[in-house]
Amino acid sequence: MKYYITTPIFYPNASPHIGTAYTTVAADAFARYHRMKGDDVYFLTGTDENAQKIVQTAEGKGLDPKAYVDGVVERFKALWDELDISNDDFIRTTEERHHKVVKEIFTKLYEQGDIYKSEYEGWYCTPCETFWTENKLIDGKCPNPDCGREVELLKEESYFFKLSKYQDDLLNYIKENPEFIQPVSRRNEMVKFIEGGLEDLCVSRTTFQWGIQVPFDPKHVVYVWLDALINYISALDYPDGELYHKFWPAEVHLMGKDIVRFHAVIWPIILIALGVPLPKLVYGHGWFLSKEGGKISKSRGNVQDSFELINRYGSDAIRYFLLREMQVGTDGTYSEDNLVDRLNSDLANDLGNFVSRSLAMIVKYRGGIIPQASEDTALEAELKTLCQEVKAQVEERLEAHDPAGALENLWRFVSRLNKYVDETAPWALAKQEGEQARLDTVLHTFAEAIRILAILSAPFMPKLPGKIVRLLGVEEGFIRWEDASRWDILEPGIQVEKGEPLFPRVDLSQYDLEQESKKTVNEINTTEKMNETIAQAPNQVEGKAPDKLVNTEAPAQEAEAEFEPIKDEISIDDFAKIDLRVAKVLAAEKVQKADKLLKLEIEVAGKPRTIVSGIAQHYAPEELVGKYVVIVANLKPVKLRGIMSEGMILAASHGTVLEVLSLDKEIAAGARVK
Ligand code: MSP
Repeated sequence: MKYYITTPIFYPNASPHIGTAYTTVAADAFARYHRMKGDDVYFLTGTDENAQKIVQTAEGKGLDPKAYVDGVVERFKALWDELDISNDDFIRTTEERHHKVVKEIFTKLYEQGDIYKSEYEGWYCTPCETFWTENKLIDGKCPNPDCGREVELLKEESYFFKLSKYQDDLLNYIKENPEFIQPVSRRNEMVKFIEGGLEDLCVSRTTFQWGIQVPFDPKHVVYVWLDALINYISALDYPDGELYHKFWPAEVHLMGKDIVRFHAVIWPIILIALGVPLPKLVYGHGWFLSKEGGKISKSRGNVQDSFELINRYGSDAIRYFLLREMQVGTDGTYSEDNLVDRLNSDLANDLGNFVSRSLAMIVKYRGGIIPQASEDTALEAELKTLCQEVKAQVEERLEAHDPAGALENLWRFVSRLNKYVDETAPWALAKQEGEQARLDTVLHTFAEAIRILAILSAPFMPKLPGKIVRLLGVEEGFIRWEDASRWDILEPGIQVEKGEPLFPRVDLSQYDLEQESKKTVNEINTTEKMNETIAQAPNQVEGKAPDKLVNTEAPAQEAEAEFEPIKDEISIDDFAKIDLRVAKVLAAEKVQKADKLLKLEIEVAGKPRTIVSGIAQHYAPEELVGKYVVIVANLKPVKLRGIMSEGMILAASHGTVLEVLSLDKEIAAGARVK
């Protein structure tokens, strides 16, 4: 089966952000899933470069538009690389291959009388690149609920496309093909819109020259939406290209709800007029909104640098968050706290913890060698039935373009696996002579379950399978969709490894979010910032193993956290650079909106200082007042949640326990500790 999927082509008038990334990540998950199923996939994305707003932005920066877009397009490509987007092609509408097809189509539509010359008089919204009639404006401004900006009165000679002529054909098509526009809410909106009557569309402009010239009347440039929509076939080399014959019509055009109207009205009418089959599905997903409620968008100034986020949390975690958070048919909320919550709970605690625990047990009880399974009990039988069910549901949800639903189902399996570990209690089996065959079955089931998780999560988190096969000591070829409900793939005797945690827990108090969210692209020097903040919060060491305390009833040996490895040797001179001092805590209070931070006023060598410390979950502020603690006195100050922190308090931490180092006997605050 062939599967052609597209994203919108994005305006390169600003760098891509997490909102723009959603469509591309979702399309990538669908494309990867179809490839794994054995379909012949073609996945297209690109950039929409002939818009008037591009010229305005470039001019505002004193740059030539082409030079400007070249730079931004590189950012898009780099972001898609970082996010492991597996597109087969990237079309830029400034490319000759696209210009050629747009010119041919414009001429054909003109010659057959579907495009005609007249005069346009009306309003234009440049940010939306949309024409509006006077009666649609709200208070004289753009009626798009996400825009509301000034519109410009245009009066110019223009070419028009006969949308009205094809209105009934389109309505009939939509009614006869209820699957064409989804979800249903968008389909209903579109039907209402078309039934309200379509006016012919102005499809050329004369007031600027950037764009594709009308071949037979070069003072006109083609309206950017007409030009842009054609990318879906120009990239396939319409009308004669091999790719076009093979892949058109598209299985799905994926996009945000804001632009469904263009894809469900203008685009199908262009295709009907050309006598070309319509795409099978136009799917409009919701938006990512900020916590405050507005759409995440550059113009609202609420975007965070996506590169920085990937750097901090890893691309699989970002992809997982985006795909899990946007529920089908609704909007999703983006905030860094949400992202970290998902990472810590779903990825570190649930998925990562299962993988670490079970591999650790194969290592501990069988020297890392996958044993031979024997008889299944009801527990394995139940697990295998659930796995089959989950696989079918993941498939069903992915076919319905609902990645969040697919992941929700997959996590039913992940949770069941953690429960299976607790129910089978391998640590108890290990102690009983007569239970060794049973232990072998359980450990073999663990290994197969890890392999299955790698397969089923591959469309969503493409880096994960590679990491898992390395831990399992097998090849990437073991990641086959059809094997996702089989439990007899891993041969006994394979050597596994415990490895590093797949998804280290993140402690948000490491980051001064308020400060950083104000920074824009390129402003943040990641490494420097992270080093400073990690140094500031020693108890939340980066890369720390996920909590092992999934089941509090598990025997102590399983519940225990691991020790962090001892760091590389340093010389006495290195150590002497660290100035440790006794300090007296004078006052302490919680830092607002930061669950983990306490602000301490301390005295050291006769002077007051402020220290922000990530210990709020272990100490009430009043417990600390009057204590003599040990601080690193010569650490470079750093701002945390807007408070300048001048040093670091020493504490010991292991697992979930944390103890601040304090002195039994009073000693002058300022005394050196060495
Ligand atoms: N250039 C047109 C599309 C032409 S397609 C022939 C365009 N470009 S855009 O850069 O504005 O990107 C719009 C798309 O980006 C949306 O339809 C959606 O897919 C995605 N998103 C932009 N912001 C988004 C969110 N905050 N949330 C989810 N998707 C978002 O329109």
